[in-house]
Amino acid sequence: MIRSAKREKAAKQQEADAAAVERREKELERSLKPSLLPRHVAIIMDGNGRWARSRGWSERIRGHEAGTQAVRAAVETCARLKLEALTLYAFSLENWQRPRRETSALMHLLRRFLVAERDELMENNIRLIATGRLDDLPGYARQALDKTREMTAANTGLVLNLALSYSGREEIAHAVRALAQQVAEGRLQPDDIVQESITENLYAPELGDPDLLIRTSGELRVSNFLLWQIAYAEIYITDVLWPDFRKVHLLEAFVDYQKRSRRFGKVDIN
Ligand code: FPP
Repeated sequence: MIRSAKREKAAKQQEADAAAVERREKELERSLKPSLLPRHVAIIMDGNGRWARSRGWSERIRGHEAGTQAVRAAVETCARLKLEALTLYAFSLENWQRPRRETSALMHLLRRFLVAERDELMENNIRLIATGRLDDLPGYARQALDKTREMTAANTGLVLNLALSYSGREEIAHAVRALAQQVAEGRLQPDDIVQESITENLYAPELGDPDLLIRTSGELRVSNFLLWQIAYAEIYITDVLWPDFRKVHLLEAFVDYQKRSRRFGKVDIN
């Protein structure tokens, strides 16, 4: 009897909390100016391990699993607000140095996600792409990735870019190798190499630079993510751990972004 009263009270509290979040989301959305939304958002999804530990779970993968819900919320919000691109740091080149059990679980999670989300991606006109050393992925993950990329290739809405086995320094090295090859073949003169030459030889130059870089879990680092492209990105750090990151948090980041004065090194003329 007492137990069921307690449960009822907890359920009521949950309902009230959910209603408060919904009100806050509406209020934030109302205050957003569509013309000032970031075009391309990049997210360092951090804090999965701490999220699992805070619940007394020793397996970090439980945090990664919970993190897929946050991925869904971010993708859905960006697509609904008609952003052009969302880049998610899903697995770094350095992440291969984690225990085999964790990297393997992450690769299986990625495969499940890529298969499970196909209908959603199609319904929301989202094109999935991936950047990084994709040949490093195990066959089962690579096949699921290739199939989802093919299926969504003609979609014209949000581009969802998964950074996989990704390293910013490696991406720059990849661009430099391509330019060196052109020089070796006599198709390019060293003096003709300008900043745009590097940009054009990155993994996905068509995405353009991110306007906003978000990092969850409070760490103040860029962790080898999009090193070339974030030259003038606005940076937003939140203490929220990635598995807890929801639409309301993304909207808060967008509202904060809209308050920034982006000068790109010039003086503010307004
Ligand atoms: C960093 O948290 C996060 C990762 C290494 C992996 C991110 C992966 C996901 C969110 C899984 C779902 C994604 C897709 C696209 C299926 P951490 O483990 O370093 O956290 P910690 O700093 O608290 O230890």
